[in-house]
Amino acid sequence: MPVVGARFAMPACRVCSQSIAPFISLGRMPVANAFLRREAFADEFFFNLAVAFCPACGMVQLTEQVDRDRLFHPDYAYFSSLSAGMVRHFTSYAEQVLREHASGDDPFIVEIGSNDGIACRHFSAAGVRHLGVDPSENVCAVARAKGVQTLCRFFDEEAGSDIRRDFGPADLIVSANVITHVPDLHTLVRGVCNLLSERGVFVIEEPYLGSIVSNTAYDQFYAEHGYYFSLLALTSLFARHELEVVDLSAQPTHGGSMRYVVARRGQRAVSQAVEDLRARERESGLHQHATYEAFAGRILHSRDALRSLLGELKRANRRVTGYGATAKSTTVTNFCGLGPDDIEYICDTTPGKQGTFSPGMHIPVVAPDGFHARYPDHAVLFAWNHCAEIVAKEQGFRAAGGSFIEYVPSVGLMSWDRDGLAAPSPTGPATRDS
Ligand code: TYD
Ligand code: ZN
Repeated sequence: MPVVGARFAMPACRVCSQSIAPFISLGRMPVANAFLRREAFADEFFFNLAVAFCPACGMVQLTEQVDRDRLFHPDYAYFSSLSAGMVRHFTSYAEQVLREHASGDDPFIVEIGSNDGIACRHFSAAGVRHLGVDPSENVCAVARAKGVQTLCRFFDEEAGSDIRRDFGPADLIVSANVITHVPDLHTLVRGVCNLLSERGVFVIEEPYLGSIVSNTAYDQFYAEHGYYFSLLALTSLFARHELEVVDLSAQPTHGGSMRYVVARRGQRAVSQAVEDLRARERESGLHQHATYEAFAGRILHSRDALRSLLGELKRANRRVTGYGATAKSTTVTNFCGLGPDDIEYICDTTPGKQGTFSPGMHIPVVAPDGFHARYPDHAVLFAWNHCAEIVAKEQGFRAAGGSFIEYVPSVGLMSWDRDGLAAPSPTGPATRDS
């Protein structure tokens, strides 16, 4: 029997404890990255995916949180370095943080969620004292093989103190696409406070709520992402720990991310970019419930449009596959009720995903060879955040008369000439540049 339910049912905001109500329920969902073998179908775990906005502190969050042992097990499938776009992004990221925040005498850098060392290897190569911290043993082993000093554990309050005791205070703590995964943000932030030097900075980068809302990118909602951050909500969270956001910059990753520089209150000047984004978030209503109700309406509309497009293509006997077995695809296929009858297979370059089936809907995941050997008529671009990279390498699909189906920011057949590579804008159109 499939297991239904999660250990933590959360009727209250996990940041400020005020009561919250979901603005959208996406229904029964498996864990997004839990690609599985046929033998595991019978024991598949499901929970109810619903998203709420907390009017008191502004945090957008899942109402039900899945036990982290179900999310990040020892065989966690995600290896950051498998995407060329992400490798490029983290190379420039590492160079920039080294230049801007680690120029002092013998700086010490800690990365929370160091994965396979995609960023830390640059700290190691630069001869800078560093420590990567990650809870998944398989990615830690890969990072160590690259010369990255790595500690395999969850980063929390105690980890922050232990690292300070063993290595001294950190001048720079970085984390990218990680804090959204942490069940208890307060223990993570307390860990940061325990570890950070007096003048040190904490640099975080996460998918940006403003982009999710403006692009109707509801596929960012899944079990592994417990929170969706705005500057307003982070300001409120950090204020509880005597920290503040002192600078920020928009990033193109994951369809629109934001990088925040956080410091102890009063230690650093607050940049104009922070004031500007705060004003823009208020203008676009990210602090108001009505904004999320309208967003929910657009999500339901997007689901209906995708179902109806795929229904039309099926009636016209078109072959449709998926491209990129992303975590995002799990939300889309389950929410829209799309199975192998609608999407023949999903091709993906990740060896560990090939030969598995997609969570919940059990669409086969295959290597890209299958796609190249016999192109379908259309492929749903589930890895839309890597659009530029994929379009550049799939010109054969174009030549064969095929086309991608897009659903962010709206549903339709994607033009091959689509100028989708606009500069990232936190509250503007979707960015598709890795
Ligand atoms: P990712 O961007 O991490 O999205 P999510 O966080 O939603 O999982 O995952 C991208 C996936 O797409 C990953 O499984 C690798 C796959 N992929 C391809 O199959 N081909 C490609 O050319 C690229 C860039 C990615
Ligand atoms: Zn709250």
